[in-house]
Amino acid sequence: MDIEIKYGPSKKRLCLYTDNIGQVLPLDYIENQAITTSTVAGKLEKPKKVNMKTVEIPENINFGAIEQLLQSEISEIGQLSIPEDFGKTLVYMGGCPYSPLMFIGEAPGADEDFHGEPFIGLAGKKLTEIIEGGLRVPREAVTICNLLKHRPPDNRNPKTDEIEKYEIYLENQIDLLKPAVIITLGKFATNWVLNNPQSTAIKASRGRVHELDTGIRVVATYHPSYLIRQYSVQNRRAILKDMTMVVDLLTSMNLYPWWI
Ligand code: URA
Repeated sequence: MDIEIKYGPSKKRLCLYTDNIGQVLPLDYIENQAITTSTVAGKLEKPKKVNMKTVEIPENINFGAIEQLLQSEISEIGQLSIPEDFGKTLVYMGGCPYSPLMFIGEAPGADEDFHGEPFIGLAGKKLTEIIEGGLRVPREAVTICNLLKHRPPDNRNPKTDEIEKYEIYLENQIDLLKPAVIITLGKFATNWVLNNPQSTAIKASRGRVHELDTGIRVVATYHPSYLIRQYSVQNRRAILKDMTMVVDLLTSMNLYPWWI
């Protein structure tokens, strides 16, 4: 997968939107602002309202090819054999796929399994506050995904072999969407992205900008569920500090604000 996405200060990124099952909506669908229904695990649900703001398409991006590759990733994951006690719904991605900023969490929970969208339960509400309050970015303008694409039983932590089973799909997702900056939520996503042993505490990685071999910058922060459990001024300030670092970073890369 070697599609190159280049973007510069004069080019706005195109925002595509996904429906309730994380499928990327085709361009003509977005242009027509069509609202139809789709099937989610046997239920009929409406795709989210399409709300397109950014339309200048950089010439060197072949969106059609990327969409096709994303769709084939989604259908490959759909064919994985999933343990009986895992959620049945594939939760691939939320927000805007072509954002310069990607969030990576752990795994879907019950609400995410029900709706097919990452971070829409309690932790999702907290994440939205972090995105909109801390970064001052609309949630729909960032990409949101997880290490695991199906819900583990009882929302337990992902096991190493489960992370290994799904990692190729997250690798491909990052490769295809080429975010400029990744924010990792909690120790599992942080350690996977930074290639640390999974036993590494998140405090070893927080507080500075990391750079991957691909040039993607990474900022680690606490998982929103941790903030809900340990709701202290200290932790709220720590997350705010991480978000300020991301805003400064995106500003220095001439990418902030990208959604207006
Ligand atoms: N919901 C998600 O989608 N991911 C998490 O890591 C937690 C809740």
